[in-house]
Amino acid sequence: MNILLLGSGGREHALAWKIAASPLLTRLWCAPGNAGIAREAECVAIDIADHGAVIDFCKTNAVDLVVVGPEVPLAAGIVDDFAAAGIKAFGPGKQAAQLEGSKGFTKDLCREFDIPTGAYRRFADAKDALAYVRAQGAPIVVKADGLAAGKGVVVATTLRQAEDAIAMMFDGAFGPAGAEVVIEEFLTGREISFFALCDGETAIPLAAAQDHKRVFDHDEGPNTGGMGAYSPTPFVTPEVHDQIMSRIILPTVAGMKTRGMPFKGVLYAGVMLTAQGPKLFEYNVRFGDPECQVLMLRMMSDILPAFLASCDGQLKNFNLRWYNEAALTVVMAAKGYPGDYKKGTPIDGLDEAAGIEGVEIFHAGTVVRDGKILANGGRVLNICASGKTIGEAQRRAYQAVDRIDWPDGFCRRDIGGQAVGQEQTE
Ligand code: AMP
Ligand code: GLY
Repeated sequence: MNILLLGSGGREHALAWKIAASPLLTRLWCAPGNAGIAREAECVAIDIADHGAVIDFCKTNAVDLVVVGPEVPLAAGIVDDFAAAGIKAFGPGKQAAQLEGSKGFTKDLCREFDIPTGAYRRFADAKDALAYVRAQGAPIVVKADGLAAGKGVVVATTLRQAEDAIAMMFDGAFGPAGAEVVIEEFLTGREISFFALCDGETAIPLAAAQDHKRVFDHDEGPNTGGMGAYSPTPFVTPEVHDQIMSRIILPTVAGMKTRGMPFKGVLYAGVMLTAQGPKLFEYNVRFGDPECQVLMLRMMSDILPAFLASCDGQLKNFNLRWYNEAALTVVMAAKGYPGDYKKGTPIDGLDEAAGIEGVEIFHAGTVVRDGKILANGGRVLNICASGKTIGEAQRRAYQAVDRIDWPDGFCRRDIGGQAVGQEQTE
């Protein structure tokens, strides 16, 4: 098969690595890709926002399947455009992508189909939103309705912060994404990421992972795209897993079908494990980054038949096999991230680091210039490792981190810490 992968992050490097291992693969391209992806795929410099250009490329190169990594093209309807051009693509169409593209849409779906989530209200103007938060008090969560590159959520611990967030969003800080605002009950508990593969009718679980969203150790500092992840997580017990499937994932797939917008692709549920059981706090319609990196290390089965079964509505009797081993990834980011950071700083020691048993390095924001790897983004590298336990995966990943010579980079030192603590008490 000829495959085109869209995206340029660590998630897409992990996907490229996994797709490249498939015996079904003939040729793999990635648009636009990065320096690491270039080892697995032929990178092509197409602007993926230009759906016509991507479709032309697919036709010229007899692409059999397109795999869409990020949410922006999904929310923009790229899968519908491929379908209209007779090209098979993995991921949801525009209507189904509203599960990520509109927080209000998802909350209304939860209400209609009795999916556990925090109490909420939707607002189209600041005055009503302010009156509501004043009546509710803090802590409370203020969310821009649309896509805001992971920055549209403010967890307000004081009423003042909630009021400021409402003012900022209605003032246009996120453009049209903030024209509507969802105000949501603050949920307490442990936060996990749960992934399921869907074909419009059926959903099969992939795996659960835990991300680390804050930039500094012990969950301090601002939110980021994710600073590290591991899978499986001991906090998703078999019982919690079944509750998430039966109360959250399956009713969502059934509800979307009832609404005439069947969901195909990866459904990524952000779930809070509360004292009252698992509650959904957001959906994404794609793999998580960096969670995808650990999922790909753990997946034993060929991924291409899974993508095809999702596209073709054939997941009902489909089985995926997973390695028993744990996987963990540490994100190395440019100093300053998620604020301002420098580009073009040199990175050495990658080959020595990759030589450690069980270690795999996926690139995010990198470029090659004159044979040297340079940082080219905020999140730059994913240092991943497998191991018999999360503790072993963690030791290997940090051993690899310590061999990397990048004075302008940094990482968290406590990825997987809570789970390793749990392992040690068992
Ligand atoms: P997002 O940018 O949508 O990934 O959300 C950022 C973070 O906000 C999530 O990872 C959660 O930690 C937090 N969050 C979102 N909704 C809630 C909620 N209802 N209660 C508590 N925390 C939340
Ligand atoms: N890891 C968070 C995300 O992919 O949205």
